[in-house]
Amino acid sequence: RHPGWPARLGPLLVTAGRVALRPPRLRDAAAWSEVRLRDRDYLRRWEPTGGDWNQRNTSTAWFGQWGALRRMARRGHVLPFVITLDDALVGQLTVGNIIRGALRSGWIGYWVSRSSAGAGVATTAVALAVDHCFGPVGLHRLEATVRPENTPSVRVLEKSGFRREGLFERYLDVAGAWRDHLVYALTREEIPEGAVPALIRAGRAERP
Ligand code: ACO
Repeated sequence: RHPGWPARLGPLLVTAGRVALRPPRLRDAAAWSEVRLRDRDYLRRWEPTGGDWNQRNTSTAWFGQWGALRRMARRGHVLPFVITLDDALVGQLTVGNIIRGALRSGWIGYWVSRSSAGAGVATTAVALAVDHCFGPVGLHRLEATVRPENTPSVRVLEKSGFRREGLFERYLDVAGAWRDHLVYALTREEIPEGAVPALIRAGRAERP
C-alpha cells in the first residue's frame, strides 16, 4: 500500500452534474471502450502514437490496460483514476511517473469525452487530484505537458493554477510525429489554500 492509494475523490458539483474520481474497475470495459471508439477523432490527435486505434480501444484491450494500471498503482508509480459525471465514466485522469525521495513529483494527464467537454469537468477533476497529491499522497510538485495547439487543455492547466515553465521541443510522439510540448508545473506552496477551495471561490464548482 502507498500513501493516498486507493482513493475516491469528490464529488464536486458543476452545472453538468457531479464530478468524482475513483480507481478503474475491470467492469469499466464496455463504457470505456464505447467512449474511446465513439470519440476516436477527437481524442487521437492529442494522444501518444500507438497501433490501430480501434484494436487498442476494444473492451478486451481495457483488461490489459486495467491490469497494467493496477500493477503500477500497487507499486506506487501511478495514480490511475476514472473521471465520472453523475457516476458514469466520462474520462480518465492519471498521475504518472511518481518519484519520491527528494523530488516527490509526478506528471498529470487527462481526457474527457466530447459530449461532456466544455463543462468544467476536467478542471474539477484536476483540482481534486491536485489536492489529493499535495495532501495524502505527499507530493510536492506536479508537472503537465501539453501541445501549444491544445487550447482547451492549456485553459484547464491555467484555471488550475499551473505555471508555464517552458517548451520541450520535439518532446513526445503524438498522433504520428514528434510534437513540441509546453511544460506547466505547480508546487505545493503555490496553492496554500488548496485547488478545490480556489475552484469553489472562483465560482467554478460547489460542494454537494
Ligand atoms: N478555444 C479556446 N478555448 C476553448 C476551446 C477552443 N476551441 N474549447 C474549449 N475551450 C475552453 C473552454 O471554454 C474552457 O475554458 P473556460 O472555462 O475559461 O471557458 C476550457 O477550454 C476547458 O475547460 P474544462 O471544461 O474544464 O475542460 P473539459 O472538461 O472540456 O476538458 C480536455 C478539456 C480534457 C482538454 C478535453 O477537451 C479533452 O479530453 N480533449 C482531448 C484529449 C486531450 O487533449 N487531453 C489533454 C492532453 S494534455 C494533458 O493531459 C496535460
